[in-house]
Amino acid sequence: MQITEDMKMVDVVQHDIQLLAVIQRFEIPLGFKERSVAEVCEANDVNTAFFLQIANSFHDKSFLNWEKFKAFPVEWIITYLRNAHRCYLDYRIPQIEKQIESFEKQVDKDEQNVKLLLGFFRKYIKEFNTHIEQEEANVFPYILELNELVKTKSQNGKTKGKKTSIKEYHEEHNSIEESLFDLKNILLKYLPPPVNNCLYNNLIFDIFRLERDLLDHAEIEENVLYPLVNEMEQTIMSNSKGE
Ligand SMILES: [Fe+2]
Ligand SMILES: [Fe+2]
Repeated sequence: MQITEDMKMVDVVQHDIQLLAVIQRFEIPLGFKERSVAEVCEANDVNTAFFLQIANSFHDKSFLNWEKFKAFPVEWIITYLRNAHRCYLDYRIPQIEKQIESFEKQVDKDEQNVKLLLGFFRKYIKEFNTHIEQEEANVFPYILELNELVKTKSQNGKTKGKKTSIKEYHEEHNSIEESLFDLKNILLKYLPPPVNNCLYNNLIFDIFRLERDLLDHAEIEENVLYPLVNEMEQTIMSNSKGE
């Protein structure tokens, strides 16, 4: 199903509840009433075309074509990604950690598996924080600075960032989703469901959802943002050659 601007927002969410995450990242509040996608976007100062571009890319990978994103300011993509970061750090990760901790309380003190799990997850959180910090402190500011240079058609394409091209940042862009896959594997393979089976299933679902969400997030970074930045760098280079 392709989401279009005249569909009712509530029907879109009913069709795929995962889209609530996208809606949250656009800072659109719930309570859509009978309003269409376009009406909800307009009421919240969100560009409808950009919203549709992101929302549709969740289902149809042809929307993840970076050239289609050229129509929108790169700042919008960065704001979207930053809002996702906040959600992971402030809510999703602590939620999973809490669930693992509550297992620790329920099982035998000598239960090594839960300790192992908590240790693995804490290590993961550390890596995850470093990954996000690197993007927020270095990658995004570099891109925004570059964007300003392109806008002002600067002849001197130098940024203050540590790196000189997005390629260098890209090489460092490690896959934090893989560790979540490992975590899910540990859970499925080695942990007998402890006291509360329901709690255990819930944890696996939460990790699964986060993993899918992070994969979508990384796809926007890798397949949209980086090629766009690459083109910005080319533009600046040709500006300086034309001097
Ligand atoms: Fe990110
Ligand atoms: Fe990333």
